[in-house]
Amino acid sequence: LVSMEQPPRPTMFDFHGVCMTKYFTSNWDDVQNFKARPDDILIATYPKAGTTWVSCILDLLYFGQTCPNRQASIPIHERLFLMVCKDFADQLPTTPRLIKTHLPVQFVPKSFWEQNCRIVYVARNAKDNAVSYYHFERMNYVFGPWYDHVKGWWEKKQTYSKLHYMFYEDLIKDSGRELDRLCSFLGLSPSAEEKEKVLTGSTFDNMKQNKMTNYSTVQLMDQTVSPFMRKGKVGDWKNHFTVAQNEEFEEDYTQKMKHTTLQFRSEF
Ligand code: A3P
Repeated sequence: LVSMEQPPRPTMFDFHGVCMTKYFTSNWDDVQNFKARPDDILIATYPKAGTTWVSCILDLLYFGQTCPNRQASIPIHERLFLMVCKDFADQLPTTPRLIKTHLPVQFVPKSFWEQNCRIVYVARNAKDNAVSYYHFERMNYVFGPWYDHVKGWWEKKQTYSKLHYMFYEDLIKDSGRELDRLCSFLGLSPSAEEKEKVLTGSTFDNMKQNKMTNYSTVQLMDQTVSPFMRKGKVGDWKNHFTVAQNEEFEEDYTQKMKHTTLQFRSEF
């Protein structure tokens, strides 16, 4: 299934206890020394949990009215910066700066905590997250186990009040309610009309059709293998897991999640 033209997979290695590739660690000092500003907003996720969806919502909320051209002309991955490249901070001219990261909580540059920045974390149930990641990366589990990621951020939420923990499944179930909660966390009070625009602009179908959000401008991704905006559903794992695999998975899951209050829904 992997296209012959795709570059070879980068080597993964253990980096302070987390599986990483060079792409995410080569500028480690720059990342760690990043100077966050108090009004920066960090969007943190495990890969394939709904990063682009929430990024699109936040971008529309903050810039939908003031810079409508931004949504129409700049691809989403250029509007928000993934916290890896050297000069990423300087490339964000807008305020607030929307910054996204897949880093586990212990790797987040300390200035985000010092500046008391708002952080939006999006979590997705393990099975759908795995299926989505499988299609995207063919099981290339960079960033360590899903378990450590979602639990690490969940624990942080208990002590850091400016962390808004969202679930992909809640967004699917009731995006309007989730948008209201997000706005209240961000201290925003958009009009009903503005909210409608945000919701319409961030539906799966609209994002899939929109070249600025469907990643079709990124040459490296061969979307004939699997489209970036693939299905956007809860419970797609049922099309991939056999009954036996699911049982085995659940047994292991129960074990690994036994000491946390964090709970997911993987079907409705
Ligand atoms: P699937 O592969 O299950 O379809 P990320 O942005 O973190 O890489 O996550 C990508 C996943 O989020 C994909 O999941 C994609 O389809 C889904 N997604 C993106 N935008 C969405 C939207 N507006 N509604 C529902 N799912 C969305």
